[in-house]
Amino acid sequence: MKIFIDSADLGEIREANDMGAIDGVTTNPSLLAKAQVRRETAIEQICDIVDGPISAEVFGTTTETILEEGRALAKIHKNVVIKVPLIIDGLKAVRQLTAEGIQTNVTLCFSGNQALLAAKAGATFISPFVGRLDDLGEEGMELVEKICTIYRNYEFATNVLVASVRHPVHVLQAALIGADVCTLPLKVIHQLAMHPMTEKGLAKFLEDAKKIPS
Ligand code: G3P
Repeated sequence: MKIFIDSADLGEIREANDMGAIDGVTTNPSLLAKAQVRRETAIEQICDIVDGPISAEVFGTTTETILEEGRALAKIHKNVVIKVPLIIDGLKAVRQLTAEGIQTNVTLCFSGNQALLAAKAGATFISPFVGRLDDLGEEGMELVEKICTIYRNYEFATNVLVASVRHPVHVLQAALIGADVCTLPLKVIHQLAMHPMTEKGLAKFLEDAKKIPS
């Protein structure tokens, strides 16, 4: 399973990249606002750090405005993936962008039928939001299972990109289901590396190292 970082913060992206942990980056308007950075500036800088798919989200909600923004963003770098909301105008834009050879990530997916339509429109990635479904008392990962089954049944090439990930159990479940990608906040990437037995074992080794005759 590929791991992306879900962030627009260059410091966080460098840290995850230095760990050798990430294959790509996803951004969204909320993450850009949090990092207080212009979308185009952030995307240019991220493309200099990470060599992999970099999702840049459109702000437009009509096919025409999505296409205009998408084409301009795609010109920034060959790795830019246009992130489009799962609305009818968005699906029309995805169909056209795909025909033009531009990669897309269809975002805000909350049902199997939405994912089916995104695949039919030719999306490169589909982003089911597991954490936001969990927040409603639903099982977010069940949606990932459904989408993986649908795509497998009909051999769709669209990659399942698990988003709105909140903790390491989401990552483990996504990998067990066979999702293609999981996009994680830096905190969760760090949590994947941590284990109390590793800390405990290391403390003992360091203590014993002092007892070795020199
Ligand atoms: O990039 C989209 C997604 O990962 C958002 O996550 O935590 O805002 O639901 P969250």
